[in-house]
Amino acid sequence: MEKQKKTYILGIESSCDDTSAAVICDGKVLSNVIANQDVHAKYGGVVPELASRAHQQNIVPVVQQAIERAGIQKEDLDAISFTKGPGLMGSLLVGTSFAKSLSLGLEIPLIDVNHMQAHVLAHFIQEEDAKIPPFPFICLTISGGHTQIVKLNNHFDIEILGETIDDAVGEAFDKSAKILGLPYPGGPLVDKYAQQGNPKAFQFSKPKVGDLDFSFSGLKTGILYFIQRNVKENPNFIQENLYNICASIQHTIVEILMDKLKNAAKQTGIQHIAIAGGVSANSEIRKRLQQAEKHWGWTTYIPKFQYTTDNAAMIAITGYLKYLESNFSKISVKAEARLKVTE
Ligand code: KG4
Ligand code: ZN
Repeated sequence: MEKQKKTYILGIESSCDDTSAAVICDGKVLSNVIANQDVHAKYGGVVPELASRAHQQNIVPVVQQAIERAGIQKEDLDAISFTKGPGLMGSLLVGTSFAKSLSLGLEIPLIDVNHMQAHVLAHFIQEEDAKIPPFPFICLTISGGHTQIVKLNNHFDIEILGETIDDAVGEAFDKSAKILGLPYPGGPLVDKYAQQGNPKAFQFSKPKVGDLDFSFSGLKTGILYFIQRNVKENPNFIQENLYNICASIQHTIVEILMDKLKNAAKQTGIQHIAIAGGVSANSEIRKRLQQAEKHWGWTTYIPKFQYTTDNAAMIAITGYLKYLESNFSKISVKAEARLKVTE
C-alpha cells in the first residue's frame, strides 16, 4: 500500500508582543519558536509601535529557525497559516504580509487564523499524552486581552456564553502587579509570590455582573484604594505583606472565574471543561480545575505551559484543521484588529 503523504503546516503568530513560528506535521508539533520582546518591560505595558518594529526584525529569523528545527525544507510545506486578528494592527500586518509573500513565493495555500479560536484549538495538538476534548465542550479563554466562556459544538462552530464587559483577567493580574510596583507582565510574578502567601489574608469584593459575563475594572480600583489606604498608614505595607496581597488577589480572581465556570457547566449540562490563554498558566486555576474533576465530576482539559501564552503552534494546529476542510484564504485577506471568536 502506498504510504500517505504527510502534511506540513507553518504557523505564524504576531498579534501582540511575541513573534512566533511553528511547524506542525499531521497535527504533531515539530517546532515552536517564540521570540519575546523585552523592550516593553520598562514601559509597564506593550507599546504598539515598538512591537511592530520588533516583529519586523524577528520574523525572518524566527520562521527560518522553526523550519530548521522541524528538520524540513521550506519546499516541504503544504500551507502557511497566520494570525489575522484580533490584536494590534501594526503587529498583525507584519505576520500577515510575511505569510502572504511566503505563500506566493512557494505557491502553496494561505490560511488565516482567528487568534482566539487558536487559543482554544491548541487542545487539538496531538501529543502522546494529549487529552483531546470531545464535542461539545466548554472553554474558559483567559488572556491579557480576552476573557470569555465559549461552547464548541465543533472545531469552528463556536458560541460565546459569556465575556468580560470591561478589562480582561490578564489585565487584572498585570494592573494589580503594577500597583504593587512589579514589572510588566506581572501575572506570572503574582502567581509566584502568591504561592508563599495566605489567600484569605485580605478580602476584596467580587463584581456583581449578570449571568456568565465578567467584570474586572471594579476589582482593580478596589485593590488600588486598598493599597493606597494601607500605604498611607504604613509606608512599608507592600513590602511587609507582598506574598499575602498577591495570594489574596489571585484567590479572588480565581474564585470569580470558577464561579462562572460552575454556572456555565450547570446551565449547559456540559461537564467537559477546558481552559486556554495566557492566564491558564496560573497555578491556582490549574489546581482548582484538577480538583473539580474529583469534586464535581468534570473532565478537565488543561493546556501544556508552552501552549498557554501566545505561540504559533496553536496557529499551525488551527491552520491544519482548516487545511483538512480545504478552508483557504484569498490572497487579498486583510488583518483585522477586532475580530470575534465566532468570526
Ligand atoms: O495569551 P497571552 O500570552 O496574550 C494575550 O493574547 O493576551 O496572555 C498574556 C497574559 C498576561 O496578562 C500575563 O500576565 C498572563 O497572561 N499570565 C498569567 C500567568 N502567566 C501569564 N497570569 C497569571 N498567572 C500566570 N502564571
Ligand atoms: Zn493570546
